[in-house]
Amino acid sequence: MSQDDSSPTSSATGALAGQHVLVTGGASGIGRACAERYRAEGATVYVADLHPSSSDEILLDVADPDAWNALAESLPPLDLVHLNAGITTPGRQSLMSDVTVPLSDVTDEAYRAIMGVNLDGVFFGVRAVLPKMVEHGGGQILVTASMAGLAGMPGDVAYTASKHAVVGLVRSLGATLDAHGVCISAICPGFVATPLVPENARGFIREMGMPVIEPSQVAEAAMQALAARSNGSQWMVWGDTIRPYEMPELGLR
Ligand SMILES: NC(=O)c1ccc[n+]([C@@H]2O[C@H](COP(=O)([O-])OP(=O)(O)OC[C@H]3O[C@@H](n4cnc5c(N)ncnc54)[C@H](O)[C@@H]3O)[C@@H](O)[C@H]2O)c1
Repeated sequence: MSQDDSSPTSSATGALAGQHVLVTGGASGIGRACAERYRAEGATVYVADLHPSSSDEILLDVADPDAWNALAESLPPLDLVHLNAGITTPGRQSLMSDVTVPLSDVTDEAYRAIMGVNLDGVFFGVRAVLPKMVEHGGGQILVTASMAGLAGMPGDVAYTASKHAVVGLVRSLGATLDAHGVCISAICPGFVATPLVPENARGFIREMGMPVIEPSQVAEAAMQALAARSNGSQWMVWGDTIRPYEMPELGLR
């Protein structure tokens, strides 16, 4: 019988056998594909989301530090925490635009919302899970940043700023975590076919010559980043290309 190569589980090797894994934003898109892949790799996976898609999933607002502390307390020691939940700027006019959206169009509320989920959600998450992970003997933290964490994206300036901030958090924390047995790294996908990128935008993106990949390809990138265990690294995920990003010329991460 031929195997379906597009299946999120087709290349699973049991790499996470016996591990306890938490995925935020795992009810949809990239998070869902990663959760499926981690299960296929042998892990027990806890999905936490603001909009759980089943009764097995945990309700969590990643922007709420108290909710994070309660969740970290309630779960068994985690071997992998994938901080993936994220949003684009509420009310933004255009994802792909050659005309810069005026910042005056981004309300205070929208700005706080995007920073709350994309940046606070990662900061509070790391802060809540790290002590128990260290006490347990170590583990891995993977963050879904974005290519917008490495390059400018004029269509959503606040999103880009939030993802650059997350990359900075991963880079700087990575420098110190080896000593504690913990590895933090980031995956930085380009455009992915999820509800975050509406159908009509996908056609436009492709017309501009840019790839739109499937969530299962990001799950494959996640597995490669986890296998490399390179502290502070950021992984470009662009079309079929999956590789660590290095600061041009200086070779820094
Ligand atoms: N789709 C893309 O093109 C793309 C590209 C690069 C990076 N990303 C990043 O990938 C991650 C996942 O996005 P996606 O494309 O799968 O989108 P998605 O909308 O399909 O999934 C995001 C999930 O996060 C959840 N979520 C939103 N706010 C939350 C909160 N406050 N607390 C907990 N959960 C919350 C949503 O309910 C949803 O289930 C995001 O961080 C996004 O920025 C996406």
